[in-house]
Amino acid sequence: KLPKQVTIFEVGPRDGLQNEPHLASLGSQATTLKIELINALSETGLRHIESGAFVSPKMIPTMADSSSVMSQINRQPQVCYSALTPNLKGLEAAINVNANEIAVFTSCSETFTQKNINASISESIKRFEPVIAVAHQYLLPIRAYLSCVMDCPYEGKTSAAQVTSIAQTLIDMGCYQVSLGDTIGTGTPLRVAYLLEAMHKQITASAIAVHFHDSYGQALANIYQALQMEITTIDSSVAGLGGCPYAPGASGNVATEDVLYLCQGLGIDTGVDLKKVSAIGHTICSQLGIRSQSKVSSLIAHP
Ligand code: HMG
Ligand code: MG
Repeated sequence: KLPKQVTIFEVGPRDGLQNEPHLASLGSQATTLKIELINALSETGLRHIESGAFVSPKMIPTMADSSSVMSQINRQPQVCYSALTPNLKGLEAAINVNANEIAVFTSCSETFTQKNINASISESIKRFEPVIAVAHQYLLPIRAYLSCVMDCPYEGKTSAAQVTSIAQTLIDMGCYQVSLGDTIGTGTPLRVAYLLEAMHKQITASAIAVHFHDSYGQALANIYQALQMEITTIDSSVAGLGGCPYAPGASGNVATEDVLYLCQGLGIDTGVDLKKVSAIGHTICSQLGIRSQSKVSSLIAHP
């Protein structure tokens, strides 16, 4: 059984661009490019746009201009502009530029968590406690990302029990949704089904989102599986931009255009205009001098 409606959570300006090597050579133009990208995405019907990350600029230099970006975008009232905040310093920066929602992030693998946020899994969760407490004071919704839900590039297979247990902890702490990151894109539909079946025993489906990277070309198949199992929030990235700096070989998120086309074909309402997103993907790729990873987009005429 498929849902009638789904929410597309656009992560291109953050997950897509965080690992984009071509940005560095653009200097201050990179900030303008991001602002234009977010403004354009805001006009497509998308209601969730992850617009920046308040993280260490030494670790992720491409996100160092997040304050500048988020303070200059044209806000559309119906759009939620969110940002990653790994700690209180990041939260403070997000509050200063009026982020509408924040996200904390950890992973199912000790090695990945250590490399990505310099903490063990339990330390990372401890670190989120004050972040969540302050975010609640500001009435900010809090999302959580859980990386490596299928496999870790350093530790191998992840168990469904581990994913469920950490996701439950994050929800108990006050996160409204946990986005399941197949960070290196190794998942296949059967494994997705197995994981969601395990999670559904204790976590309500609306508190789960899927965040598939497409390194092995499995993302759309995995999304189709998730859609059949009550999942109604899908993370995607315009033009399939992106990768992950701490997951060697990982490619971008599934392309938003391809997810929109899939949903259209399945009769699922997204409220998002495929042609508009496709044109935006075309523009950002030509600005960056890269090829779009969206299959669908390459078949749509762009003026
Ligand atoms: P740390 O070294 O333990 O932190 O890093 P620290 O508190 O000791 O600070 C070290 C330095 O970072 C200091 O600067 C701080 O001021 C600075 P210094 O004194 O050396 O000049 N700093 C900050 N600067 C700006 N904003 C901040 C901030 N915090 C500290 N918020 C920390 C811990 C978490 C900060 C660091 O490890 C970090 O920033 N990691 C982020 C890595 C990241 O952004 N990865 C990509 C996003 S996750 C992802 O892509 C996966 C996802 O898409 C899902 C999936 O696909 O699986 C979400
Ligand atoms: Mg990601």
